[in-house]
Amino acid sequence: MAPRLSPHLKNVEDEAVDKNIFRDCNKIAFYRRQKQWLSKKSAYQALLDSVTTDEDSTRFQIINEASKVTLLAEIYGIEGNIFRLKINEETPLKPRFEVPDVLTSKPSTVRLISCSGDTGNLILADGKGGLKCHITANPFKVDLVSEEEVVISINSLGQLYFEHLQILHKQRAAKENEEEASVDTSQENQEDLGLWEEKFGKFVDIKANGPSSIGLDFSLHGFEHLYGIPQHAESHQLKNTGDEDAYRLYNLDVYGYQIYDKMGIYGSVPYLLAHKLGRTIGIFWLNASETLVEINTEPAVEYTLSQMGPVAAKQKVRSRTHVHWMSESGIIDVFLLTGPTPSDVFKQYSHLTGTQAMPPLFSLGYHQCRWNYEDEQDVKAVDAGFDEHDIPYDAMWLDIEHTEGKRYFTWDKKRFPNPERMQELLRSKKRKLVVISDPHIKIDPDYSVYVKAKDQGFFVKNQEGEDFEGVCWPGLSSYLDFTNPKVREWYSSLFAFPVYQGSTDILFLWNDMNEPSVFRGPEQTMQKNAIHHGNWEHRELHNIYGFYHQMATAEGLIQRSKGKERPFVLTRSFFAGSQKYGAVWTGDNTAEWSYLKISIPMLLTLSITGISFCGADIGGFIGNPETELLVRWYQAGAYQPFFRGHATMNAKRREPWLFGKEHTRLIREAIRERYGLLPYWYSLFYHAHVASQPVMRPLWVEFPDELKTFDMEDEYMLGSALLVHPVTEPKATTVDVFLPGSNEVWYDYKTFAHWEGGCTVKIPVALDTIPVFQRGGSVVPIKTTVGKSTGWMTESSYGLRVALSTKGSSVGELYLDDGHSFQYLHQKQFLHRKFSFCSSVLINSSADQRGHYPSKCVVEQILVLGLRKEPSFVTTHSSDGKDQPVAFTYCAKTSSLSLEKLSLNIATDWEVRII
Ligand code: NOJ
Repeated sequence: MAPRLSPHLKNVEDEAVDKNIFRDCNKIAFYRRQKQWLSKKSAYQALLDSVTTDEDSTRFQIINEASKVTLLAEIYGIEGNIFRLKINEETPLKPRFEVPDVLTSKPSTVRLISCSGDTGNLILADGKGGLKCHITANPFKVDLVSEEEVVISINSLGQLYFEHLQILHKQRAAKENEEEASVDTSQENQEDLGLWEEKFGKFVDIKANGPSSIGLDFSLHGFEHLYGIPQHAESHQLKNTGDEDAYRLYNLDVYGYQIYDKMGIYGSVPYLLAHKLGRTIGIFWLNASETLVEINTEPAVEYTLSQMGPVAAKQKVRSRTHVHWMSESGIIDVFLLTGPTPSDVFKQYSHLTGTQAMPPLFSLGYHQCRWNYEDEQDVKAVDAGFDEHDIPYDAMWLDIEHTEGKRYFTWDKKRFPNPERMQELLRSKKRKLVVISDPHIKIDPDYSVYVKAKDQGFFVKNQEGEDFEGVCWPGLSSYLDFTNPKVREWYSSLFAFPVYQGSTDILFLWNDMNEPSVFRGPEQTMQKNAIHHGNWEHRELHNIYGFYHQMATAEGLIQRSKGKERPFVLTRSFFAGSQKYGAVWTGDNTAEWSYLKISIPMLLTLSITGISFCGADIGGFIGNPETELLVRWYQAGAYQPFFRGHATMNAKRREPWLFGKEHTRLIREAIRERYGLLPYWYSLFYHAHVASQPVMRPLWVEFPDELKTFDMEDEYMLGSALLVHPVTEPKATTVDVFLPGSNEVWYDYKTFAHWEGGCTVKIPVALDTIPVFQRGGSVVPIKTTVGKSTGWMTESSYGLRVALSTKGSSVGELYLDDGHSFQYLHQKQFLHRKFSFCSSVLINSSADQRGHYPSKCVVEQILVLGLRKEPSFVTTHSSDGKDQPVAFTYCAKTSSLSLEKLSLNIATDWEVRII
């Protein structure tokens, strides 16, 4: 297909990335200022005679010898072994921005008890006394101590930095008896420091509030492995940052982003985890302005008593990693998650920001997207193509061209004259439609969404107080101010069925361009001095704009169903807590092998920072994947949480059946494998939803005592049962798979071959091989037949794959509900079953007595792997006391037992006895 031109742009891809349009550290003024100031080493001191304590927190003043401006520090103990440190100006000229709406509720505090201390020290302990905060007055430092071991030191490098708000010096000069400012006013003329004005190319950022940046260092003792702070197209383990090479957190639309690069792309979660043998911790820096993070690991050295203080003296030889956070604005508000296990840290983080929303079942199936499916006929033909080739799929997607001139909530009448009819077609196959809705609104007096938003003052404003205007897909547009709760409420109401003409209950949403993307804007985004609700500058909250967009969309979908149905919303931009509203994808990747490879660490990083529902465009958005790459990408994507094929408008068509019979078969097989495993996926999402554990897990999370796993990113665990090592190299004939755990046994998912853990095995791979291994000790529920879509499979039978551990036992779970409503929550309409195999008996029992859901589904097949001896009999034993013999097949070569044609109701208690 020839490249299509957008009516408003010469060629949409002319707007594409050129790295020069983005800033690196040395072009960021607050970075330069902090570096320059820190080289002067001017220390802060805590005034411990100012300490006050109340139910919630302990407060004291901090003062810097140069600026003499008083800061106020507050330390909170939070339930679940979390500490919070807030630092703000004691009396700022005007309030500084504090990020709202991210914490799910006001964190419940535990009273900290002041144990001892004199004017030079203060020790605060939580009730149990296991965790303590040692505060040293001069220079100001905080050590977090667990069981007499210093885990984290704050400001031990003296990088606390706080630019207090000032009056612009011209105004100040006019005032008599002005006070001295912390930053030398003579420097204000030095453009280089960008205090009141910062230039980048043709853009000038005028800063009405002047410099307001903050910074702080954290030393993580004994830690060399750090992860998190998405989103970067980088390795899973964070790298040491050299000069001017900090990880940047600034949400940007970076078309075809460069890989192995620390530049900020679409979303930000200012949260990192650190892991060492015996402990995992987290640091959550709650700030939504532009943020930079430097990381610097020092190898193990011997510390002297004076360097570390008396408590630390016990552990003299340790490596440590310094983490330096710097943000352009706001306050210091940081949560220290003390673990000690990876699972504890996941729980602590979700206690603050919420867990992954429980997705509707359909959204775990395969999604078919492209920019664009041309018209209703095209949709019909592609939909039929899936049936013709016997490939399941769940959702057809329509990109921006489905609208009337990129006016969201409308339909191009020529291409989509009857959207309801099109949705009825999809509904008849139990499939869904997903359409796009971006945050920019075309300036057009005849477009009702625009007119209503304008009339109500719902757009972001410019410096002059007028609606901000910028160019995006529709041409000149204004941008909805989702930070305003009224705007969100109104936007949500646009999804009501009578309002959104042509929409039905099978239509779901895709939020794109919500960094926000502003063509020809500075770094392709909004000016930092644009004004939001509450008179806050865009700079204060840039990174949370997309979060609010998705929040309002998800709320709209819930409301249109009168609170009954779970929403599905995919977003490109995100922030900490976005997991509560839906799914995230990795944006405009490229059809190259290296992008397939990097999708794994990118998704692992999102997963451990709370966002379990994530994926990358299958095939690569930009360009045309060679056939082998496309097949490998489908195979990898089938084992990643959000599974969508997508391509840009000038890429060749790439529906799964366009690459010859054999490749169609391979893609079909990969997608069908996904559908077979849906009961396991759905159960994992439930676990993420209620117990905060990521669906896709780096190896170190499951094997925290195994050093070798700490930097692995070419393979990962899906839940705790499956290890996946996708093929990401062309023409591969083998892959080296590390099977962790010295007491583990692993079974090849297809051949049933088994290996003991703790070794690397060379696995031969053909083009149809997806290297997946089941961990001994697990039971994985599957569906035995695959239908057109998840909806077709509701009644189909289950199978259980029981992989025995070295001790001959296994456990697993199945979660089941109606797949779409909130009844699981409000009426406890769900089934949560537990399968355990021990002493040759497999038991199906209830894992949660609160749940009830009628299901006629049966377990039809049971496969037991690792059974060393052929049984003489197999019987089933149901709760009504009936015993029945069962026919079985045993294969001595693979030590596997197969039971077929069973009819054991999934919802009732029963046993299978192997004698
Ligand atoms: C950018 C998105 O990343 C891409 O997925 C989409 O197709 C285009 N915008 C057009 O909407």
